[in-house]
Amino acid sequence: MRVVLAYSGGLDTSAILVLLREKLGAEVVTVTVDVGQEEELEGVEERAYKLGSTKHYTIDARGEFASNYIAPAVRANALYEGEYPLGTALARPLIAEKVAEVAKREGADAVAHGCTSKGNDQVRFDLTLMALLPGDVEVIAPVRMWNLTRAASRKILASKGLPVPSAHKKYSIDENLWTRSIEGGPLDDPLEEPPEEVYAWTVPPHKAPDEPLYLTITFEAGTPVAVDGERMPLDRLVATLNRLVGAHGYGRIDHIESRVVGIKSREVYEAPAALALIRAHRDLEKLVLTPRELRFKALADAAWTDLVYQGLWVEPLRGELQALIDSMNRWVTGEVRVKVYKGSLTIVGRHSPYTLYERGIADYDTGWYPSDEEARGFIRLWGLQSLQAARVRGANA
Ligand code: ARG
Repeated sequence: MRVVLAYSGGLDTSAILVLLREKLGAEVVTVTVDVGQEEELEGVEERAYKLGSTKHYTIDARGEFASNYIAPAVRANALYEGEYPLGTALARPLIAEKVAEVAKREGADAVAHGCTSKGNDQVRFDLTLMALLPGDVEVIAPVRMWNLTRAASRKILASKGLPVPSAHKKYSIDENLWTRSIEGGPLDDPLEEPPEEVYAWTVPPHKAPDEPLYLTITFEAGTPVAVDGERMPLDRLVATLNRLVGAHGYGRIDHIESRVVGIKSREVYEAPAALALIRAHRDLEKLVLTPRELRFKALADAAWTDLVYQGLWVEPLRGELQALIDSMNRWVTGEVRVKVYKGSLTIVGRHSPYTLYERGIADYDTGWYPSDEEARGFIRLWGLQSLQAARVRGANA
C-alpha cells in the first residue's frame, strides 16, 4: 500500500508517518507545502526521511497561495465572523491540491492528513481531496481513526528513539503568509487575556515606536501591487507588511469563533498584513463603488467568506461569487495611505482614477447646491410612503 501524507513536520504528522508504516505496512511518500510557515519548515525533509519516508516533496507554493487564494480574499474583504482573515482556511485547499497532484503522480492508494475530529481542517482536507482524487484513492485521517492524542504521538516518537519535534509546548500553532493562529493551553479559558508569549509577529502596542508609520498601498483591480511606490510580487508584499505593520503592534485578534463542526472556540491570531490590506481595500471600494454595489457586494463577500471557512472551496457557488467579486473589483484601482501607531491603524488618505467622490459636488463652500425646489421635490417623494403610513396609522402605530 502506498500512502501520500500531508506532512507538516509537526508532532502529529510525524507520529502518523510512523504509524502508517507500522500499522498498515504502508510505503509513505511525504509532502510538505510551503505556504510561508517559515519557522516550521526548517529540517522538515531530513526529519521525514529519518522517520521512514520513502520519498519527500517540499513544494514552494507561496506565489500560488498569494495570487490564487490571498488576492481573492482581499478582493472579498474576507473576515470570517467579522474578524478572522481565513489564513488556515485558505491554505488547506491549496495544500490538498498539491497533495492530490503527488498522489496521482505516485499512483497512491490513499492520502492521509493529520487533522482531528474536532476541527474545521478535516472538512477542508477531506472535501478538497475527494473532489480532486479519483474515487479509488482513499482519504484517511489517522488521528481521527486511531484516536491519536498528542501525548501518544510523543510516546511513539520517543519510543523509537526518534526526534520529538520541539512542539510548541502548550499551544497549537498554524502559520502561513496570511495568518498566524494560536490555540490551546491557557487560551482555552476565554476570560483570560492571552499571555504575551503567544505572539511572534507583533510587538506589544505599548512597546511600539513613538513615531507613527505611514504607508501607501497601491491596488490594481483590487489586488495590492506596491508599498510606498515599490512594486513587488504579492507574497513578498504580504511578508513585507507583516514585518512593518507588526513592528508597530497592529494585527492582533482575539475572538470567539463558530467552527463548522458546531463547536465554539477561542481563537487568537496575528495578521498585520491581512488586516491592513483588507481595511485599505475596503476603504478604496467605498471611493469607487456605488452605494448599491457596496451593499450588494458585502453580501457576496460574506457568502464567499463563509464557504471558504466552511471547507467548501470546491463548491461551484464559491467560483461564481468570486467571478462577481472580481468583476466589481475592476474599478478598485488607486492608492490608500495608512497610519500605524502603537497598535492602531487609521486610514488617512485615498485616491483613484475611478473615484466617485467629486469635490465640486461635495464641497460646502464653492460646490454645487441642489436648488430649494429640487431638494423639496426629492425629499417629498423619498419619504412619501413613510409619511403616508404615519398618517394612516396615526396613534395606533
Ligand atoms: N480556527 C482557524 C480555522 O479553523 C485556525 C485553526 C488553526 N489551527 C491551529 N492549530 N492553530 O481556520
